[in-house]
Amino acid sequence: VEQVEAAKARIKQLLIRENAVIVAHYYTDPLIQALAEETGGCVADSLEMARFGSQHSATTLVVAGVKFMGETAKILTPEKRVLMPTLEATCSLDIGCPVDEFSAFCDAHPDRTVVVYANTSAAVKARADWVVTSSIALDVVEHLDAQGQKIIWAPDKHLGGYVQKQTGADVLLWDGACIVHEEFKAQGVQDLVARHPNAAVLVHPESPAAVVELADVVGSTSQLIKAAQTLPNTEFIVATDQGIFYKMQQLCPEKTFHIAPTAGSGATCRSCANCPWMAMNSLENLAHSLDTGSNEMFVERALGERAMLPLNRMLAFTK
Ligand code: 13P
Ligand code: SF4
Repeated sequence: VEQVEAAKARIKQLLIRENAVIVAHYYTDPLIQALAEETGGCVADSLEMARFGSQHSATTLVVAGVKFMGETAKILTPEKRVLMPTLEATCSLDIGCPVDEFSAFCDAHPDRTVVVYANTSAAVKARADWVVTSSIALDVVEHLDAQGQKIIWAPDKHLGGYVQKQTGADVLLWDGACIVHEEFKAQGVQDLVARHPNAAVLVHPESPAAVVELADVVGSTSQLIKAAQTLPNTEFIVATDQGIFYKMQQLCPEKTFHIAPTAGSGATCRSCANCPWMAMNSLENLAHSLDTGSNEMFVERALGERAMLPLNRMLAFTK
C-alpha cells in the first residue's frame, strides 16, 4: 500500500512538471484508472480516448492502454508528445492484420469501401476509408450500406460478422480475432445464467457469435457500462475484459458482476478474461515513462497524415 501511494504521489508531481494528462482504457489496472480520474485525465473506451486526447490542452498525453491507442493519439495530435507506460503492449487484432497482406486484399477488391477497426496499425489505417470503434461500427456500416456501398471489414471477424448480421450490408471479412474475447464460451455462459437466472448478460461484440446470441446487451465497453447502470437488474454476467469491473462496480456499488466463463463447464476463472497487453501497464512503468520521456510514440509524418483522414472521419461522424 505504501509503495502504491508513493508511486501515485510521484506521478501526480510528474504530471504537473510535464504538463501531462493520463488517458486510460477501461481494461487497465484499476490503480491506473483511479489515478487518471483523480488527476483530471480520462478513463474511457477507445473512441472516447481518441476524442479526449485530441481535445485536451495538455502538451503531453500519457496513453495507458495498447499500442494502437497511443498511435491514434499521436496521429490525431502530432504536435503533442505521446508517452506510453510500455511500447510492447500490442493487440492480437493489430498483429493479425499486417499491412502488406491487407493492402493486397484491398487491391483485389477495389470496388469495396475499406472500413477498419481502431485496433490496427497506423499503416493499416492509412489504407482505409473509414476507421471505426465498436461504439459506432453499426452506425457507420448502416450509413455506408444505405448509400449502396460494399464493404471490406478488418480485422475482427466476430465484430464484423455481428455488424454484417445486424445491418444486412455486403461485408467481406478479414480473418482476425481478439485472443481475450474469443475465449468466452456459450455453454459456460448458459450454465452461469442457469445459476443466476435474474442476471442480465452483457457482451462485447469481439466475442464469438454463439456468445453474442445469449446477450441482453451487445456493445462497446462504454455501452456495456451504461447498460449496467440503466438496466433494472442487480446482477450481471459480463463477457469482456475484467478490467471493466472497476468502473461498473464504482458506478453501481449495490450490483453484482460475474465474469463470463472461458471454459464450457461454467466454472469462472480469476486470471482469464484479462488482456495480457493491457496488463503490461503499471504505475511503475507509467511513472518511469513520464519521468524520463522514454516510450515516446512516433508515427512517420506522411503515414500519420494519411491515417488522420479516416480517423477524423470517425470523430466527425459521431459529433
Ligand atoms: P472499446 O472500443 O469497446 O473500448 O474496445 C477496445 C478493445 O480493445 C476491446 O477489446
Ligand atoms: Fe486487443 Fe483483445 Fe486486448 Fe482489446 S482485449 S486490446 S482487442 S487483444
